[in-house]
This record gives sequence, structure tokens and C-alpha cells, in this order.
Amino acid sequence: MIYLLGGSGFVGSAYQALLARKQIPFRNLRRSDVDYANQAALTDLLRREKPAFLINAAGYTGKPNVDACELHKSECLMGNAVLPDTVATACADAGVPWGHVSSGCIFSGARPDGSGFTESDPPNFTFRTNHCSFYSGTKALGEEVLARFPHVYLWRLRIPFNQVDSPRNYLSKLMRYPRLLEAANSISQLDEFAAASLACWEQRVPFGTYNVTNPGHITTREVVGLIQKTGVSTKKFEFFRDEAEFMRTAAKTPRSNCVMDSNKLAATGIKLTEVHEAVERDLRRWQKTAS
Ligand SMILES: NC(=O)c1ccc[n+]([C@@H]2O[C@H](COP(=O)([O-])OP(=O)(O)OC[C@H]3O[C@@H](n4cnc5c(N)ncnc54)[C@H](OP(=O)(O)O)[C@@H]3O)[C@@H](O)[C@H]2O)c1
Repeated sequence: MIYLLGGSGFVGSAYQALLARKQIPFRNLRRSDVDYANQAALTDLLRREKPAFLINAAGYTGKPNVDACELHKSECLMGNAVLPDTVATACADAGVPWGHVSSGCIFSGARPDGSGFTESDPPNFTFRTNHCSFYSGTKALGEEVLARFPHVYLWRLRIPFNQVDSPRNYLSKLMRYPRLLEAANSISQLDEFAAASLACWEQRVPFGTYNVTNPGHITTREVVGLIQKTGVSTKKFEFFRDEAEFMRTAAKTPRSNCVMDSNKLAATGIKLTEVHEAVERDLRRWQKTAS
């Protein structure tokens, strides 16, 4: 039995679908059923029911985007920095191994030679190092908190996308925003992310941090090119002149744009599709929704 926290969310729904498809018994804990932010209550439940593994897909992301985190700082801090410690302590007390959905948004840019950040690079888009968003700062604190716990996976997700049109899907966002920011990013196909992260546990790869992004990186203009090539949208895409114009006119807080290295995960034998190939594949099987 696997326990899932935050299964009702965007990322958690991908885990629910995966576990159901693989017929792996699981229980989605909702805050409204079990106050899993309460350490004593969670420890008690885990000790009693002893799940084989727990996935934490709960956290505070801000709606419609990370700008909202600047206005809801205590929820953001609680969801992304305090909750991971609560879950880690409860899992350690109950002897339950687990995995945490972290984020690649604790990095900005690329290594000086243009290559992607590895798991041994210190995050550089945090409260300690840079003018980060409040969201990124709290996600980096969440990772710091977990560093002292040995039996946990930290899976770094970045800018999730898949073939289903939705306000949370990166490909949909690019098609809906009036203007776009050109940037190079490593990104994660959501269903591949869920499968790869679960595979870490299924294959008992060593605990620790993994960049779970599709190999390579892709620019906004390249994604737009693929949207046009596949005919999913025929709109004329407009771009901001530069990041300064984006910050002045459209955003309240800086965005993390970064390149990640996913070789550590690939070296375990768990592989994701090359990023351009994954984006084109999902656009070719695009499922449009009315919204
Ligand atoms: N979406 C992204 O672009 C993205 C990218 C990288 C990383 N992540 C990480 O992935 C995790 C899940 O993100 P998501 O996009 O799936 O978020 P989401 O759709 O908002 O879902 C998060 C879920 O977490 C639970 N939760 C627990 N404490 C919460 C709190 N204080 N505030 C809000 N929700 C809380 C809620 O489930 P119940 O109330 O049912 O328990 C909620 O459904 C987060 O840790 C996020 O940082 C997301």
C-alpha cells in the first residue's frame, strides 16, 4: 500500500492515474480527511497502518501562478518548507520510506559552460543566494530541511506538461498567454515524471535527489515552433522584448528559467524521452478542452 499526499492536485492526479493504471493499491490522504500537516496525527496514522511507501505531492504553488505566493507567504512557507519536515519526521518515526516532489525552480540559468545543473550543484535561486521568488525560496528551504533525512527521494519536477489541455499545462499556458518570455528551460513531461519517480522506489535506486526532467533543454521559441508545426494553434505568438519588459509589465516576482542535467537519473536506467521529442509527441496527440 502506497500513501499519497496531495493526490487531489495537478501533480498528485498524475500519481493517482499511474497507481490506478499499474493496479498498485494506494490511499490518497486529503487534508479534509486527515490533517497530515499535524505531525502527531500523521505519525500515529503511519505507525498504525505502516504503508510500504509514501509520496508527498502536496505543497503550495499559488494560483494562477507563483505571483500569488508573494501574497500568501505563510501558506507558501507552511506548504513547502514546514510540511516536508513534518512528513519526514513522521515517516522517520514510523519507519516509512518516502519520496518528495521538489522543484528545479531553485536554480536560475545554466552552469558557466552552458551545461545543466547537476544534483551536486548548490541551488542558486533561493533566499540565501539570489533575488528569487518567494515560492522558489520556500522550495529550496524544503530541500534543506530534508538533507538530514536518509530515507527519502527528492524528485525535482520542472514546468510540467503533457498532452491534455489545461490551465496548469505549460503547453496550454504558452498558447493562452498574450505575450511570451524567450528563455531556455529543462522541463518535465508530467506522466513520465510520475512514472520515473515511482520507478525510483520500485527499482530501489539509492535515496537522494534526482533531477526528473526530460533530457536536454528547449527554448520558448522552439516550443512555439513545434506548436505551429503540429498545427495545434495558428495564433500569432508575441514575445516580450526582454526579461526587463516582462518583469515591468507582466510579473510580480522573478521566474526561474534554468537548464538541468538529468544524467544521474538516467544512470540508474530510468529514462525519460528527449525533450523536443516529448513536446512534439504530446502536441501530435493533443487533447483540447473547452475553456
Ligand atoms: N505545478 C507545477 O508547475 C510544479 C512544478 C514543480 C514542482 N511542483 C511541486 O509539486 C507539488 C504539487 O504541486 P501541484 O501543482 O500539484 O499543486 P496543487 O494542484 O495546488 O495541489 C497541491 C495539493 O497539495 C495539498 N496541500 C497540502 N498543503 C497545502 C497547502 N498549504 N496549500 C495548498 N495545497 C496544499 C492539497 O491537497 P489536499 O487538500 O487534498 O490534501 C492540494 O491539492 C508542490 O510541492 C509543488 O511545489 C509543482
